Amino acid sequence: MTSAGTRTFPFTPTAHPTPAARRAELLVEPGFGQVFTDHTATATWTAGRGWHDEAVRASEPLVLHPAAAVLHYAQEIFEGLKAYRQPDGSVALFRPELNAARFAHSARRLSLPELPVDAFLEAVRGVVRADEAWVPEAPASLYLRPFTVATEAFLGVRPADEARFCVVACPAGPLFAGRDAGLTLWISAELSRAAPGGTGDAKCGGNYAAGLAAQTLARTHGCDQALFLDAAEHRWLEESGTMNVLLVTADGDLVTPPLGTILDGVTRRSVLELAAGHGLRAVERPVSVEELTAGCADGSITEVFAAGTAAVISPIIAFRSTAGGFTVGSGAPGPHTLALREELLDIQFGRVADPRGWRVSVD
Ligand SMILES: Cc1ncc(COP(=O)(O)O)c(C=O)c1O
Repeated sequence: MTSAGTRTFPFTPTAHPTPAARRAELLVEPGFGQVFTDHTATATWTAGRGWHDEAVRASEPLVLHPAAAVLHYAQEIFEGLKAYRQPDGSVALFRPELNAARFAHSARRLSLPELPVDAFLEAVRGVVRADEAWVPEAPASLYLRPFTVATEAFLGVRPADEARFCVVACPAGPLFAGRDAGLTLWISAELSRAAPGGTGDAKCGGNYAAGLAAQTLARTHGCDQALFLDAAEHRWLEESGTMNVLLVTADGDLVTPPLGTILDGVTRRSVLELAAGHGLRAVERPVSVEELTAGCADGSITEVFAAGTAAVISPIIAFRSTAGGFTVGSGAPGPHTLALREELLDIQFGRVADPRGWRVSVD
């Protein structure tokens, strides 16, 4: 369907579903991003027809011409959100309209066709309904990965005239399994992730490819992830590989770097909105490495944590850089970090009321 209005993704069940016993085995310890469900949502876009051929059907390999634009010019965008099993057995998404809006923003920045918000939501819901049996019990969840790739076969730099949208799903446990005690970040002084006017606020594969070298460097220094700084001065905190970064100050501020060259995280935004209920003032302002270092030394910064759909809220307990290393607070997860994490998870898993209407049913 190419006209405006509600797009549907007609469902054709796979002829070869994973046997229930095998699925149960896979759900015991799914890891993160390792196990995929039986169905995907897809839609095709061409310059002449717009979006068409929407479907939820058996997961199968994507067939691409070797000259497909995505393979050469990285014309690609993606999203990440989760479906959560609720206490009554139903399944809910968390603020999926924000992912849909961000996906459209990313599409505009990467010159890809915009998928209407209603189609994005329909596709995501369609996959979750088709693979409902794959939604694990809490604390695990079903991670959903919508993406659009430029499929037109040509060499030459211009926006492609053909694209494919897909949603794949995978049951997912914690991203940082065994790291509940907190993460250590490598302050990436030289390798930047994004620059003003670049694609830092879009969710496109190229950003992540560009971040891999810093992540590898972080690992070689015994750290879990890199913390990126701004590209101009290499001084101002931006974000981590797949997470926004927030700080708690001794005088009750919840501080996070402003939007611009970082991803507008759904978790970041939600935590800022929850802050007041925890006696914290939400503040979006630039934070320098000097302030972070001095604040952790003199106790004016008491907690630091990372926020993201996959990472949820993960305490950051230490930093390392070429200048040395330092600890945050006592080196243990802080009380605000843990309380915000618990409230967020309680909302997502339906264990508390949802006055803001953040949970969205898949039915
Ligand atoms: C670079 C980056 N920053 C931040 C986030 C957190 O965003 P969200 O909370 O929407 O998952 C992500 C995860 O998607 C990310 O990849």
